[in-house]
Amino acid sequence: MTRCAAGLLAAIFALAGCQGSEMEIGSPVTGEEDYIALCSSCHGASGIGDGPAAAGLSPRPADITKLAAGNSGEFPLIAVMARIDGYTRAPGVMPEFGQLFGEELVPLETAPDVFTPTPPRLIALAEYVGSLQR
Ligand code: HEC
Repeated sequence: MTRCAAGLLAAIFALAGCQGSEMEIGSPVTGEEDYIALCSSCHGASGIGDGPAAAGLSPRPADITKLAAGNSGEFPLIAVMARIDGYTRAPGVMPEFGQLFGEELVPLETAPDVFTPTPPRLIALAEYVGSLQR
């Protein structure tokens, strides 16, 4: 009986260990990987809004390659992060991703001399969207 209980405990610990490694908490994910996994289904790999899930959507996913062009040539990094995070909530189709980026925060200068604690993964993702600008 005790041996059985010990075996059961060992199995539970093994399972718990297994789950922990599967989740890979804190494993670095690049902005590009996040973009492909979370955004490209709607916005398309290039960002023009032609992902496979875009066809049935109304409104259609925005062309996010022209955000800099629409902002006097300057990529609106903070606005894009706020949008991804769900901080600026436009009623509609696009999901919010704020819960995904974990607890780790780094200070980001969001206005002159204003530093906002921000998840690095969110910054990397928004910077990747910046790299898609045309
Ligand atoms: C389910 C489809 C869908 C997914 C997934 C999605 N979006 Fe969107 N997104 C939309 C739609 C639709 C709009 C435009 C309509 C609206 O504002 O709701 C939009 C708008 C935006 C805008 C605002 C563009 C502008 O002109 O201001 C940005 C930036 C954006 N998405 C980035 C992203 C990023 C980055 C991801 C991945 C983290 C993502 N989206 C995932 C559907 C999606």
